[in-house]
Amino acid sequence: MSERKGRLSGRRLALGITGSIAAYKAVELLRLLQAEGADVRVLMTPAATSFIGPLTLETLSGHPVDSDVLALQPDGRIGHISAAHDVEAIVVAPATARWLAAMAIGLASDSIVAACLATEVPVVVAPAMDGGMYSHPATRANVARLREYGYRIVEPEEGELASGMIGRGRLASLPAIVDAAVGALSGKTAVRQPAPAPKRSSSPGPGMDLAGRHVVVTAGGTMEPIDPVRFVGNRSSGKMGVAIAEAAVARGAAVTLILANASVEPPAGVQIARVETAAEMQAALRALTPPQGPMFDALVMAAAVADFRPAAVADRKLGRGAGLKLDLEPTPDLLAEAAERVRTGHRASGGPHPVLVGFAAETGSLERAQEKLRAKGVDLLVANDVTEPGSGFGTDTNRVTIYTPDAAPEAWPLLSKREVAELLLDRILVRLGKREPAPDRNGDGRDGHAGAQTASPTEGAKR
Ligand code: PMT
Repeated sequence: MSERKGRLSGRRLALGITGSIAAYKAVELLRLLQAEGADVRVLMTPAATSFIGPLTLETLSGHPVDSDVLALQPDGRIGHISAAHDVEAIVVAPATARWLAAMAIGLASDSIVAACLATEVPVVVAPAMDGGMYSHPATRANVARLREYGYRIVEPEEGELASGMIGRGRLASLPAIVDAAVGALSGKTAVRQPAPAPKRSSSPGPGMDLAGRHVVVTAGGTMEPIDPVRFVGNRSSGKMGVAIAEAAVARGAAVTLILANASVEPPAGVQIARVETAAEMQAALRALTPPQGPMFDALVMAAAVADFRPAAVADRKLGRGAGLKLDLEPTPDLLAEAAERVRTGHRASGGPHPVLVGFAAETGSLERAQEKLRAKGVDLLVANDVTEPGSGFGTDTNRVTIYTPDAAPEAWPLLSKREVAELLLDRILVRLGKREPAPDRNGDGRDGHAGAQTASPTEGAKR
């Protein structure tokens, strides 16, 4: 089947249909999603099959329909689990009051709830029901709960309902639902957890010079609790690290993003470990480094890790009283620890040595950067003066200087964070050189470095 051009060109979606009279509109919705270029598979609740026949949807989608949570697919896979893992977004339209309630409490009694529970991809929900049912506090609470999960709700419209009465409960317009699906896939992963790593192709396309590589990125800033409501933190938005993750995934890498309290959305297609504190980031890094985890190809520590944390955390909110003196202790140096674990793992396995990249947030002068490069034991250190306008925390641009053990520091001009990310990935590629990729961590047939190219340091910024 040739790929249709559109806003969802090449995207894999699941359409979940529940037992509302509006289910008949789902056929047209399927067609509209396909017209935008999406490959759509259908999940149905048993009640939905009373409104429209699975055969219609099977024929139109070109995929078997999963309407039985206990059923296996023809290839032997569990339908809702394979849907959860194979698609990039789930659109539930129409969603009944019963379905919203089941989803709100995680009751996996149908394939759609089960897939939503098992997945990490964005979920779009378009409710449809009687107006009184939709305005009932129970339904409102269930919708609010789904919003807390990060699901996008496409509000029903006001108008004539199946009962003949007028109210708010009519399924939203189909173009509005399509728009929501497009929005959910446009780099705004608003779900509680990560999207899965993209399937790697055995023949990477042009520009996919990181295909077969596994890149671990940290982004954001850690928050160290003082009491249940207060913390010691910093101003990191996560933009720099997220730009690196986004650029790496666009170039074909499998990306794991350790994300601490960022104010920007992570890109689609990366594995995300959400953390809050330096201790949680340390645990996430340990899980990814030998001996606990397999080796990756590159680690980029763009996160601002707190250097200090309260030595003791109060379990109740502290009163204002006569003021507060905080006893702060240093946090462990996560990057230095990761670098040491990587070195030890490398000595033990004799495998490829990953490229290690640190960042340095400096104020006024970069004179401490060279020492940080040595102390952290990294291959590249990206230093930025966070007091310079347009650089450092929260900005869309950054002016950085690159330090390496084997060359003079190199000052780059003020660039967008995405451009910094691309150039940095070019440098990482140069360092990876002809090294073999890290061993396949998933057993998923990743094909190593076949077809990967080394970009010139300036090519990346033009991407
Ligand atoms: O997120 P943005 O708003 O886009 O801002 C980007 C940024 C300013 C946060 C980013 O460009 C940056 O400079 N990140 C590093 C911030 C920092 O923690 O710098 P540092 O000089 O304190 O630490 C040096 C390196 O050691 C960093 O890679 C850091 O992740 C790491 N570190 C620091 C402390 C610690 N306890 N453990 C660490 O691993």
